[in-house]
Amino acid sequence: MTEKRTLLYEGKAKNIYLTDDDSIILAQYKDQATALNGKKKDQISGKGALNNQITSLIFRELNRRGVQTHFIEQISKTEQLNTQVDIIPLEVVVRNYTAGSFSKRFNLAEGIKLATPIVEFYYKNDDLDDPFINDAHVKFLEIASDEEIALLKQNALAIDLILTDLFAKIELKLIDFKLEFGRLPDGTIILADEISPDTSRLWDMDNNHVDKDVYRRDLGDLIPIYQRVLTDLQTEFEGK
Ligand code: TMP
Repeated sequence: MTEKRTLLYEGKAKNIYLTDDDSIILAQYKDQATALNGKKKDQISGKGALNNQITSLIFRELNRRGVQTHFIEQISKTEQLNTQVDIIPLEVVVRNYTAGSFSKRFNLAEGIKLATPIVEFYYKNDDLDDPFINDAHVKFLEIASDEEIALLKQNALAIDLILTDLFAKIELKLIDFKLEFGRLPDGTIILADEISPDTSRLWDMDNNHVDKDVYRRDLGDLIPIYQRVLTDLQTEFEGK
């Protein structure tokens, strides 16, 4: 039995606990919602349970399709066990359509399909507001080597194909999403963190937002929208 021990890290959306097994951490998903790097903050009852269940289902599918991830098992509505990794301090964003900061940067409408997906790196650093950085910056900051940068991009694009297919099955378009990777003690890089409507943009066939933009932009209540994603994924992938 893997017991929850000391708090290792308190994040905006998750708390991470050490367990009695050195190689395993326990992630507890919280109800807190934040936007604008923490400047907008609210408690949304039920969000943690939904994101934990959605992330667990998606990581189970990724594991099943041969992607190496940190996910071990979901142990409660709000908790999952993960292999402990050293998180690489990069937000790896993949974009299939224009939206969000990409639309702002290039003054483009949202929802234009990109000819090929674009992978971007942001430096995970709250004090600096997670700046957009390029490959040379990643090397300069000694975050990853040339080979690792190539591997991160290749893995992100492979995951994009799987996720696009997975969400298409429940009639959602994967506009963009954010990934985080970590290193095992032997240096192997695997997928970590979460994949949920908090960390991706999902649009339905009428281009309604089915993701955290509903909170960021005050478009309505998050819970029924996130519940729809979970219920449809469960029906499609778990026969529930
Ligand atoms: P962006 O358009 O604001 O750069 O966001 C791109 C994608 O990355 C979007 O799906 C939301 C996700 N994301 C996070 O999960 N965490 C973050 O801190 C940011 C900035 C974006």
